[in-house]
Amino acid sequence: MVDNIKLIEIPKITDPRGNLAVIEKDTLPYEVQRVYYLYDVPSDAYRGGHSHKECMEFLVALSGSFEVVLDDGTSKKRVTLNKPNKGLLIPTGIWRELENFSSGAVCLVLASHEYEEEDYIRTYDTFKASLIDT
Ligand code: TYD
Repeated sequence: MVDNIKLIEIPKITDPRGNLAVIEKDTLPYEVQRVYYLYDVPSDAYRGGHSHKECMEFLVALSGSFEVVLDDGTSKKRVTLNKPNKGLLIPTGIWRELENFSSGAVCLVLASHEYEEEDYIRTYDTFKASLIDT
């Protein structure tokens, strides 16, 4: 359910010298198996456009901002990520699209699984059909 998807606060240590945010073992409900990041994304580009069968992902706007459209097949929700100490945990079975990247935006992704193309559902029709199957 997209309603249950909330931003998670990342603990931070504030300091006049600059802030430090820490993602530790207990911050996420899985052990991180892969880290990747999107950067130099043109403002008119769309990223994502898929769901995952097993992989969960935690997205953080390390810099700048972008929007994530979450879709559980019934409802949609648009979330703006624009803080380095707030992340979005996307469970399995959620169609996501990323858009409206600001200049200089960096989207960090902490994934629960290694990259496997077989884990992706890349067409919306297949995504909808996968929900009926389960
Ligand atoms: P894609 O899933 O389309 O990116 P996004 O969902 O962020 O828009 O991935 C783009 C390409 O990068 C595609 O050929 C798969 C490849 N890729 C990897 O090789 N490893 C990875 O961890 C990821 C996320 C993508």
